Amino acid sequence: MLRMQGLPLTTDARGRVLRDLRVSVTDRCNFRCTYCMPREVFGPGFPFLPRTELLTFEEIERVVRVAARLGTRKVRLTGGEPLLRQDLPDLVERLARIEAVEDLALTTNGSLLRRDARSLRAAGLDRVTVSLDSLDDATFRAVSDVDLPVSVVLEGIDAAVDAGFGPVKVNVVVKRGVNDDEVVDLAAWGRAGGHTVRFIEFMDVGGTNGWRMADVVPATEILTAIGERWELEVEPPAVAGEVATRYRYADGAGEVGVIASVTQPFCGACTRARLSAVGELYTCLFATRGHDLRAVLRADGSDADLHAAIAGIWDARDDRYSELRAGRPATGTGRVEMSYIGG
Ligand code: GTP
Ligand code: 5AD
Ligand code: SF4
Ligand code: SF4
Repeated sequence: MLRMQGLPLTTDARGRVLRDLRVSVTDRCNFRCTYCMPREVFGPGFPFLPRTELLTFEEIERVVRVAARLGTRKVRLTGGEPLLRQDLPDLVERLARIEAVEDLALTTNGSLLRRDARSLRAAGLDRVTVSLDSLDDATFRAVSDVDLPVSVVLEGIDAAVDAGFGPVKVNVVVKRGVNDDEVVDLAAWGRAGGHTVRFIEFMDVGGTNGWRMADVVPATEILTAIGERWELEVEPPAVAGEVATRYRYADGAGEVGVIASVTQPFCGACTRARLSAVGELYTCLFATRGHDLRAVLRADGSDADLHAAIAGIWDARDDRYSELRAGRPATGTGRVEMSYIGG
């Protein structure tokens, strides 16, 4: 049995600990990325969660405190777009006070970072990851389906660096025929600016993004293109269970990564749980349902009740969707949408 400070750590049915919690603070987003929130589905009539249903910051803090007691050390705030949630720095401040949380990060589309980077840093946020799929204005607008120049996101990244978040990680979802011709340009931009670019294989998450294997650009192909231009050396994982495979540029110009969840699944080391904005705990990105923790919180449950609920859910966990799907077309329906549980 794994132990921490003398206490047994909860492990799931495959011996994995609950090390990371990804907290979605809203299911709304000001972008409509085609691979995540296609406008045909997430249009004006889409039933987003009513604001009154969302967990309060106090409730989120309670869940994180209890998860920390169960061994959680990394917390990532996500959405939708997390910076659309009002007063997010106040939540950051609450979570930054939890001593056991060693790494408090945020994944954002970058559009509001010029406004928020400084206050997030002042509130105690450790890291920022920005999603950006193209440096070309027309491609950026087409993929993100938003009427915003790419320069706003680039300035947001600069604002994050200026606020003390450097080096910033930049996530690029690569789609065949859309932005695969930009891989080397994006890598060059990352090298020049000191950003860690991570290329992500387009995933069959949710049920609305029209995923096809033919649109996936395998990580090996991405690495070959980059490796032909600059010599790469494998970088060992910074922490166990990391989703990105990391490489160092041999000339010292920083690092680059790939997230190959389609062609090289990493379920074996998956220590991640996801909390939806209304307080459901999901034990896999590809799950069809979550477990209602808000009911425990709002039934005047004690921290011990919450602890027992989370431990029980984790204990029974057996998920390994990406491994099971490897090499086969996506099957099944009713999977939760990425924008609902934050990727
Ligand atoms: P770091 O702590 O910086 O390593 O962050 P991260 O890579 O865990 O988080 P990020 O939000 O940047 O996620 C990068 C990509 O990996 C996103 O597309 C996620 O959806 C994907 N990803 C993260 N966790 C998982 C996972 O457990 N399973 C799968 N299949 N994909 C994941
Ligand atoms: N496949 C791969 N990555 C995706 N993301 C959103 N949808 C998908 C998908 N279908 C990415 C976003 C963001 C991260 C949280 O997940 O670009 O960087
Ligand atoms: Fe919004 Fe991120 Fe989804 Fe794009 S990938 S629609 S920015 S939540
Ligand atoms: Fe974890 Fe599920 Fe992703 Fe596998 S598919 S790595 S179990 S979240």
